[in-house]
Amino acid sequence: MTAGPTREAIDPARFISNPSTGKMGYALAAEALARGADVTLISGPTHLMPPAGVNLVRVTSADEMFRAALNQASGVDLVLKTAAVADYRPEQRARSKIKKEALRRRSVRSRGGDGTISMRMVPTPDILEEVGRRKKPGQVLVGFAAETGDLAANALKKLRRKNLDMVVANRIGAAGEGFESDTNRAIAVDRHGKHTELPLMSKSDMARAILDLAERLFEERPGRRAGA
Ligand code: CTP
Repeated sequence: MTAGPTREAIDPARFISNPSTGKMGYALAAEALARGADVTLISGPTHLMPPAGVNLVRVTSADEMFRAALNQASGVDLVLKTAAVADYRPEQRARSKIKKEALRRRSVRSRGGDGTISMRMVPTPDILEEVGRRKKPGQVLVGFAAETGDLAANALKKLRRKNLDMVVANRIGAAGEGFESDTNRAIAVDRHGKHTELPLMSKSDMARAILDLAERLFEERPGRRAGA
């Protein structure tokens, strides 16, 4: 499982990130442990206590999460990727703090003195897409989608593009859903195109509902035993 945000450093004092707290991923880890799974939780920076018994791998950036996830992915039955991974990172990370005065001088020289600065960003690897490419027979891959637009259409696109078995999509910006909230509302779209509404509920209830759906997909594979 992956959870939480990633941080993409600009310099030792600044980074680019997002409001993910990791609550959904940690709730899923706790629920999978309660069901008897061996759980590895690859977590970006959060303030949450990891559930007892979890194998916790702490990472900061998308590149670190990529390496940790690919290390683990081939040996597991179920992959759940709740992490809100930054899609871009600054091309260069300054070793020492970038000083305002130096930026001001540079911006005055290069931009006609309007005080603005710009930063080149480069794409981070899409972790889930790579895990999907390397998917082993019998593995179940569950992705998440944070959307402001059409939930179902975007979920289905991500499911196909990343070779997933299920996508859980939730709306960002709505009260009681998504980032920073203790509750969530979502739809799950599976590889058969089946949609399941997951109405507003606590993130621990949602973890139970998501694992019930994932277990059902898992059980369709003959001769396998559920685990994470
Ligand atoms: N994801 C990932 N690596 C990335 C970006 C996303 O593994 N570099 C995973 C997330 O953990 C999530 C899923 O892909 O399970 C969808 O993430 P989301 O941010 O909703 O979508 P993107 O694929 O980044 O597409 P977009 O930002 O255009 O909606």
